[in-house]
Amino acid sequence: MRLRFLSAGESHGQRICVIVEGLPAGLAVNPDEINRELSRRQGGYGRGGRMEIEKDRALIVSGVRYGVTTGAPVSVEIENLDYKNWADVMAVEEPREKAKPVTRPRPGHVDLAGMLKTASMDARDVMERASARETASRVAAGSIAKLLLSEIGVRVMGMVVQIGSVKVSGGEAELHSFERAFSDPLLCCDPAVSKNMMEEIDSAREDGDTLGGVFEVAAFGVVPGLGSHTQWDRRLDGKLACALMSIPGIKGVEIGGGFSLSASKGSSVHDEIILREDECIGRRTNRAGGIEAGITNGETILVRAAMKPIPTLQKPLKTVDLATMKEASASVERSDICAVPSACVIGEAVVALTLADAALEKFGGDSLKEFKRNYEGYVEQISRFWKIER
Ligand SMILES: Cc1cc2nc3c(=O)[nH]c(=O)nc-3n(C[C@H](O)[C@H](O)[C@H](O)COP(=O)(O)O)c2cc1C
Repeated sequence: MRLRFLSAGESHGQRICVIVEGLPAGLAVNPDEINRELSRRQGGYGRGGRMEIEKDRALIVSGVRYGVTTGAPVSVEIENLDYKNWADVMAVEEPREKAKPVTRPRPGHVDLAGMLKTASMDARDVMERASARETASRVAAGSIAKLLLSEIGVRVMGMVVQIGSVKVSGGEAELHSFERAFSDPLLCCDPAVSKNMMEEIDSAREDGDTLGGVFEVAAFGVVPGLGSHTQWDRRLDGKLACALMSIPGIKGVEIGGGFSLSASKGSSVHDEIILREDECIGRRTNRAGGIEAGITNGETILVRAAMKPIPTLQKPLKTVDLATMKEASASVERSDICAVPSACVIGEAVVALTLADAALEKFGGDSLKEFKRNYEGYVEQISRFWKIER
């Protein structure tokens, strides 16, 4: 692993922090780029009241000098504006008055498993960290990874293809669909479907219920040869699946045609290798999602992730109060109704981080100049067989 990151911070604590290590020196990093991605993560129809309070802004604390990386770890902090309302609840030192412990674990959340694991009688101790607020750190790190990838012509984009039971109708994912989705409030490429999705969210809200859905992330312009077939933990498909599955609420990941391929015959699944007019190698289809044997094959990377409905319900499910050991209603927190568009932005970030790591592993280099020179040399090396489409 060349590129890695580590985050810290609680949902209602003072701030979220992330350290990104392994970036080459000489990469231009402007906080505006990070902020744009952070505000995309905060958007989306169906979010709860918290996002009206927070206006995420990245404070770059280290690793960047005069607007470019120095090769040192880059650290970024994002202030939680809501902290002022939680200063006692989240105090680092003993507060004047302790908050009432949360003892009625919410089904589907970290509460019960985390309380048992950490021997805590207050779910607040675990829920503050399990909260998806932490994903602001991944989006900040991912936005820097996107900047690095753009230096070698790679573009990572996402779109929402399902909310609850409302789906975008099939077809292979094309760049223009992702471009259309970019400005939609639900990141959906079809305005009519987006409207139906909003109605589905409104109706879930009225019922005190929540929704999940599916998003898709594509990476355009990736050269063949990233990742490896040589060990299980070097396979890029495994790394992408891990990165996506680690987003809170994600319960399924598909690469390319994914689960649907299992019901078809080999002859109608595998993407035939053809000779194009320019005498280079190409494919007519991309059911493999741009990865074969854990290695990129030069086609667009396509991944999908399925998110379960948000576990905090305004009409709470049954639970057991751990303080009294009596049946009770689960605790209710301020919460989202549906966060699939946000999860999609986080998905873009983790895919970008995984691909940036794979690109750094292949091309190396302590400076951006060296990294790009190695990249260009490799593109030249394979140019008899494969040409990049810019
Ligand atoms: C962007 C985003 C926002 C989320 N918002 C909430 C929320 O408001 N309330 C909630 O209960 N869960 C929310 N979740 C989901 C929980 O964080 C998640 O279900 C929980 O941590 C348990 O993890 P698991 O579902 O992966 O098992 C959100 C997830 C994401 C990705």
